[in-house]
Amino acid sequence: MGTQTRPEGKARSFGENIESDLASRFLRVVEVAAIESARTMGQGERKLSDQVATEAMRKTMDSIPMRGTIVIGEGERDEAPMLYIGEKVGAEFPDGTEVPEVDIAVDPLEGTNLCATGAPGAITVLAASERGGLLNAPDCYMDKIVVGPSCKDAVYIDAPVSHNLKNIARRLDRDVQDLVVIVLDRPRHEKLIGDIRACGARIRLIGDGDLSAGIAAAVIGTGVHAVMGSGGAPEGVITAAAVRCLNGYMLGRLVVKPEHEERLERMGIKDKNRIYEAEDLAPGKQMIFAATGVTDGALMKGVRFFGEGTRTSSVIMTLRTGKVRFVESIHLEKSPDVKVRF
Ligand code: FBP
Repeated sequence: MGTQTRPEGKARSFGENIESDLASRFLRVVEVAAIESARTMGQGERKLSDQVATEAMRKTMDSIPMRGTIVIGEGERDEAPMLYIGEKVGAEFPDGTEVPEVDIAVDPLEGTNLCATGAPGAITVLAASERGGLLNAPDCYMDKIVVGPSCKDAVYIDAPVSHNLKNIARRLDRDVQDLVVIVLDRPRHEKLIGDIRACGARIRLIGDGDLSAGIAAAVIGTGVHAVMGSGGAPEGVITAAAVRCLNGYMLGRLVVKPEHEERLERMGIKDKNRIYEAEDLAPGKQMIFAATGVTDGALMKGVRFFGEGTRTSSVIMTLRTGKVRFVESIHLEKSPDVKVRF
């Protein structure tokens, strides 16, 4: 098929390419939210940390030219004051230029406890896609396995842990004993942890934050080879957006309780036991994933304040345009005399 060319003189309209038009604007959203929540680091106030991130995210989103709909957010409308599921965000151009329709999944502060205690791994994060590009997952748990690009189709959610670990090790050309698996430190994972230990693989137990752990597993060189266990389903969808941009591999299955049935019905999900791949959880053709470190993590440093300025460390990825950018930003808006250091 030949390359399509635009009729001469006809400018591309705004939002035709969501990724190019909106990626840098969404980067700003996660940066601003990270700066606000990082100011509360170690204060022991997880709700406050989350609230300031949410407010900053909401405010910044409203400056973006788009018709955005929150499909994964802080909760249902009656339980979350802002960034609730179904909330409309974004701005129109004053001259009436068409703006894109975008679905957005947010976790304004992933790892509220991590931020409140100053522990590593807290991030601000979002994913955006064209309408219908992100599964509107209920707020239940999801059984997940996340691995890197070399391990595509090498794991299966119902396979014994030993089978999955042997396959991962083979694909990575190493012994099972050399693998590092991240697992949320929860009583529900007692058997999983026992099984991994019995195989001799190494484990990193984390207090919170299986989303950033999932991103680390999909990037070679982070020292993380897999994430296993159940965590939030909304976090699973956002992880899937990152995994797609990174060519990683992920499987997820909702852990449905009776209280989630109604939401599943509304979403038209008939098979509760369906095993999703990243492409099912985040099926969009255009995908933007943006995250900024609040506290130090495997891929991003936490926010650093240095008197006159602020430094943030982020990742911004786009699927169709195939870009993964690690962005160090120095925010100078506080003073005209700020010194920039390399
Ligand atoms: P918060 O951002 O709400 O603090 O949640 C963090 C987190 O650890 C996620 O990374 C994970 O998916 C989920 O909570 C696990 O839930 P639970 O704490 O109920 O096991």
